[in-house]
Amino acid sequence: MSNRTNFISAVSNLLQDVRKKLRTALDMGLANSLRYLFFKPKQSLWVDLVTDDFVQTSISDVAMWRDFASKASSDSEVFEHFRRYEILRRIVETNDYFQGRQYLSNIFSLADQDETIYPKTLSDLVSEFDSVGSPLCYKYKTLGLASPLALRYLDTALEIKRLFNLKSVDLVVEIGPGFGGLALMNSRLMKVKDYWLIDLPEVVDLCSRFLDEFRTDTTFRDGLGLTSKQSYFDLVISNYAFSEIKRDMQVELAELVLSRSRKGYLVWNNLGETYMGGVTLKEFLSWVPNPRVLSERPLTANGNQIIVWGLDDV
Ligand SMILES: C[S@@+](CC[C@H](N)C(=O)[O-])C[C@H]1O[C@@H](n2cnc3c(N)ncnc32)[C@H](O)[C@@H]1O
Repeated sequence: MSNRTNFISAVSNLLQDVRKKLRTALDMGLANSLRYLFFKPKQSLWVDLVTDDFVQTSISDVAMWRDFASKASSDSEVFEHFRRYEILRRIVETNDYFQGRQYLSNIFSLADQDETIYPKTLSDLVSEFDSVGSPLCYKYKTLGLASPLALRYLDTALEIKRLFNLKSVDLVVEIGPGFGGLALMNSRLMKVKDYWLIDLPEVVDLCSRFLDEFRTDTTFRDGLGLTSKQSYFDLVISNYAFSEIKRDMQVELAELVLSRSRKGYLVWNNLGETYMGGVTLKEFLSWVPNPRVLSERPLTANGNQIIVWGLDDV
């Protein structure tokens, strides 16, 4: 190719890129584009989760995440802005404005079917959740200011409540709860007695730190101490977590938790299978009774699926 052709193709790519960015900015609205542009993330460190030497039990079991979780739970200055840190935004706070919009549309249709939920309740739940950790929030016409993560968790909590027709539940266990955001939403939408959290020890500490900020009637428990004495659970949840863990640990967790749980809700991705030698979806489906596979909406990565079991109508 001549220099001239190279130049023309570079300019055309650049123009295409600018047009795409302008279209995105227009779609988000000026105020939201400015929020995005002027948002100041902390510690702009990139970690390649797949090749990091310290990957141990799962795709996100990396030294940088453990160290961060430990700092965020013990250092108040870090905790104050913990949802701005790159490592957290890489592992948990991963959703963008547009996904937020799709979660919001799910939320309104789920709330329509639930007489205990009002528009005011929805915005209160979201603002309460976003009042901690100074996340990036956007303005959504129908709800006001919200982080896309708050909308994802609210959508998931409403969906769990609807699918299993639950108003109250005694024993919930969540594998890989991140900083405990879904645990909070679940405890707000259902009456939950005990909520066990199974994650890396440093991350369970961060969950406790986060959940301590709120008054709830739920007792949140460190699931690392769980033994086979706990004979059953009502519901197990694991979103983008169990499916990212290595096989031998998946087998252990299946024995200890999944096989003892009457109902289950898992968002499944193929990271464990691809990078950690984890079980395949097909194999997993043979581990649980009468599973049903649902679509993830919005789809956040190719191949993601939602697996549920223990529905009343099955
Ligand atoms: C991609 S994040 C998902 C967080 C949260 N479930 C959500 O939907 O936002 C994966 C979670 O799995 C946790 N995790 C990593 N290794 C784990 C292990 N061996 N056992 C339990 N959880 C683990 C991480 O600390 C993190 O909380």
